Amino acid sequence: MTVGEDLERPPHAPVMVDEVVRFLGERGVILDLTLGAGGHAAALLDAGVETVIGVDRDPAALELARERLRSFGDRVRYLRARFSEVDAEAVGGSVDGVLFDLGVSSMQLDQSHRGFGYRVDGPLDMRMGPDGPSAADLVNDLPEDELADLIFEYGQERRSRRIAGAIVRNRPIATTDQLARIVAGALGRNPGGPHPARRTFQALRIAVNRELEELAASLPQAVGLLGPGGRVVVIAYHSLEDRIVKFGLREDERLLVLTKRPLRPTPDEVARNPRSRSAMFRVAERTEAA
Ligand SMILES: C[S@@+](CC[C@H](N)C(=O)[O-])C[C@H]1O[C@@H](n2cnc3c(N)ncnc32)[C@H](O)[C@@H]1O
Repeated sequence: MTVGEDLERPPHAPVMVDEVVRFLGERGVILDLTLGAGGHAAALLDAGVETVIGVDRDPAALELARERLRSFGDRVRYLRARFSEVDAEAVGGSVDGVLFDLGVSSMQLDQSHRGFGYRVDGPLDMRMGPDGPSAADLVNDLPEDELADLIFEYGQERRSRRIAGAIVRNRPIATTDQLARIVAGALGRNPGGPHPARRTFQALRIAVNRELEELAASLPQAVGLLGPGGRVVVIAYHSLEDRIVKFGLREDERLLVLTKRPLRPTPDEVARNPRSRSAMFRVAERTEAA
């Protein structure tokens, strides 16, 4: 897929962008650890942020962001890395704010060849970056009980044993459509309800990209990069992520938490952008004393 083709799709709409600008706007240097299509970055630069250092593990996302943020010239620096790899050396000093907008982007979900979605058929891949085992490797190679545990834990799926049994009986599995049908066959359809494979796909995506490990490792590192008064903003999309953020911010003695409860998108934003529905937005500030 070329950048040109990507640009023809509706771009990923940035979630809770007004809140991001409210807490991070008018600052010097912002480290955007999940640059994606650059929507938050563009809003921050428009709001007066001097420089954005944009990180993404996905080379296709960086290419797209580069295209969209071209007009900001050298006010944007690009870095292809997992956010757990980003340290003071990579950033070149301290920063005034850090943004994590977790999970996958609409582009990743919608592009069939990336293999994230149960609605679009494609190779069962789900890797955000070019490295590591794919979702097909996991479903074809893991023992049944490990597969069931993974689907239970990361998908919060009660019927994980039934699903894992059906997967093992139908191996090898090569495509998203094949997997979606196997899960639907094991659980039965729920007319009008969410797709029965939704939780299984979430679980595999989290495991393939080691999303929770990445977040737990990166959060304290990112706080270490903040100068006094610097802020960290995290937008999480499910309770497994939000739990790590909530306790990670609360237990870090270098931080003052500014959001006792997570901020949520307005009903108007949810109506405009259904992807924002599950967003949980937390902010903390690095104290002078740290
Ligand atoms: C929800 S999208 C971000 C969208 C972006 N804020 C925007 O406005 O366009 C999340 C992005 O973070 C990237 N990402 C997720 N986990 C990552 C990690 N551990 N390291 C680096 N990038 C990551 C994904 O590749 C994806 O492009």
